[in-house]
Amino acid sequence: MLIDKQFIKICTIDDLKENLGKRFIIDNSEIAVFKVEGEIYALSNICPHQKSAIIFDGLIECGKVICPAHGWEFDLATGNQAGGRRGLTSYPVFIHGRDVYIKMIEKDINW
Ligand code: FES
Repeated sequence: MLIDKQFIKICTIDDLKENLGKRFIIDNSEIAVFKVEGEIYALSNICPHQKSAIIFDGLIECGKVICPAHGWEFDLATGNQAGGRRGLTSYPVFIHGRDVYIKMIEKDINW
């Protein structure tokens, strides 16, 4: 199977714990990866509030990750805040077998 060259293997599904984020640094980008109810999500790890690299450590609740510093909430699937306001960059995820790939996309300032 040909996988888009922009997809980078970061880990296996088994490396991720349910509802616990994991931090990756890929091409100088901070990425927070979550496994929630069998789905894998990849978001920027940098909270737009104070530019802190702590999203991976956030609490998972109702399809959202809550920043541990001051409680800003971001949708796991889109990275958006309430009302569709932009929040965190969301990275496409591809699963092949047990391997987890993330598509690195152009960095954009998402706040
Ligand atoms: S640093 Fe994330 S809410 Fe303040």
